[in-house]
Amino acid sequence: MCGIVGYIGKKEKKEILLDGLSELEYRGYDSAGFAVIENKELKNFKAVGKIENLANKTTHYLSDGFGVSIGHTRWATHGKPTELNAHPHLGQYSFVVHNGIIENYQELKTKLQATGASFVSQTDTETIVHLFEYHNNKLANPFESFKATVAELDGAYATLLITKADSETIYFAKNGSPMLIGFDDNDIYFASSDTPIIGKATQVYYLEDGEYGYAKDGEVKLFDAKGEKSFHKQALSMDKASAQKDGFRFFMEKEIYEQSRVMSETMMGRVNDDSVDFEELNSYFLNGIDNIKICACGTSYHSALASSYLFERLSKIPCVVEIASEFRYKEPLLKKNTLFITISQSGETADTLEALKMAKRAGLKSLSICNVDNSSIVRESDRAILTRAGIEKGVASTKAFATQTMVLWMLSVYFAGINKTIPSEQIKTEIDAMIHVPRALLIPDGLHEQIHRLTKRYLHGHGFFFIGRDIFFPLALEGALKLKEISYLHAEGYPAGEMKHGPIALADSGLFTVALMPRSLHYDKIKSNVEELSARDANILAISPEPFKLADDFIQTSYDSHPMLEFFEMMVITQLFALEVSVRLGNDVDMPRNLAKSVTVE
Ligand code: F6R
Repeated sequence: MCGIVGYIGKKEKKEILLDGLSELEYRGYDSAGFAVIENKELKNFKAVGKIENLANKTTHYLSDGFGVSIGHTRWATHGKPTELNAHPHLGQYSFVVHNGIIENYQELKTKLQATGASFVSQTDTETIVHLFEYHNNKLANPFESFKATVAELDGAYATLLITKADSETIYFAKNGSPMLIGFDDNDIYFASSDTPIIGKATQVYYLEDGEYGYAKDGEVKLFDAKGEKSFHKQALSMDKASAQKDGFRFFMEKEIYEQSRVMSETMMGRVNDDSVDFEELNSYFLNGIDNIKICACGTSYHSALASSYLFERLSKIPCVVEIASEFRYKEPLLKKNTLFITISQSGETADTLEALKMAKRAGLKSLSICNVDNSSIVRESDRAILTRAGIEKGVASTKAFATQTMVLWMLSVYFAGINKTIPSEQIKTEIDAMIHVPRALLIPDGLHEQIHRLTKRYLHGHGFFFIGRDIFFPLALEGALKLKEISYLHAEGYPAGEMKHGPIALADSGLFTVALMPRSLHYDKIKSNVEELSARDANILAISPEPFKLADDFIQTSYDSHPMLEFFEMMVITQLFALEVSVRLGNDVDMPRNLAKSVTVE
């Protein structure tokens, strides 16, 4: 959610900023901008929409002498996506970029306006630059002024500030939103995640909450509430992990197709012939744990929900799943015999991170399942299992969901093995099924084309219900979320057995039902639920190995004996279905409106 890049040095700054912002663009793409101070001269460019608009606007600008520079790509929180609201925000002689939300901005703004500051944007961010200049006009000391500014900010932020009052310095602060500093000889980089600086910096320092400071003359001075502190840089991989589309039309499409391959990575070294092992865990860590609580948001929440069936069925451990944003404010009762699991693709989701911090404060053991090493959630957790999906660029998550679900299934079998809750033959059956998952994720010849053809009938109507039972209910939720994110059509996921308790009132010829009808789990039950809908004239798209006479459309899957294999095969179909509807509607598949890849605000 929003992206920040900064650079001090002699290299051409526009290219470094635009290049870095492009790496972050999938996180927010309402507007973008950058500012440079070179020879005490301020330059500032902004454009609404994608980074290419900013690049087009700055074709004739070059900055190749020594200078300081900051850039930003925005996902609007306060104020519409306009040029005036785009970052960097200018005071009289300073610029600021910011990710997160300044919660007390209204109060600060009123105070600053009373002293004569004039605001041009509707953003909370602009407050930071005016507050800084207010202090600096009195103190004539940019560092002390920045420190005083940071002390007055409430909320989550990562911010960079440059000023003509000290034109060779970048000031930075981090609290609750990610920020890191990259180093290469005398060049210093800033970014809100490591992709913009990979290939440029050789070492990195990930800032902690409450840290602030400045970079000047090839050096960084770091402070927290206790004063100046030392820090250890770590090596940064030079391997540019930036995903390319590899001939696919969209990142999302590429990511759907690569699920089969990445799933083997997820299992590598963990799934053995007759056991599942995680080097990240041991029985000592799990000692005293007799129940699990999982917190996550969105797609990650859906994978958590699917796993709760598996933890109870296989590991015989009570498992409760909560949406992180709800959990935070419900004053939850937390007991130390609970293992607290967070699931996050990005590792930066503000609500999930805050839920994790609450659990830690209550003394719970924490485990995160995450796709991004060194992310805030990974660093905050006692233990972390990486999903190894590789960078996911499509805003609509696909392979991250698949690998999260896989890790959770593996975890449920790992617990079952440790606690001996199911016979060893059943563990073997689970493992045999796991080994077949990469096959279940392969897209057979003709399937994509079939889905493309049938989607032409699904562009109108008054909405979609995705229905399923058991683990196929969370999959229905996920199928509906995928569709609504990129098609902008209304879709709901529902437990099939629950339709008759209200939603069936919506059934008529304008209602589309996508029915997940696995053969290996409660087939007769879901069949009756779908028949009830069909009797009321709803359009039925049945996804099942078993031909279903009442279906208006039918996608046949394989007769797999294990429900998880059916789960993964149907997951791919729902992903391709959403993709093809979105393409037909002419939407931006990879960067759908109003969304961002990493939600670092509450
Ligand atoms: C949907 C999607 C979101 C995320 C949610 C949590 O396709 O990607 O619903 O799942 O914002 O994000 P993470 O997993 O990064 O914590």
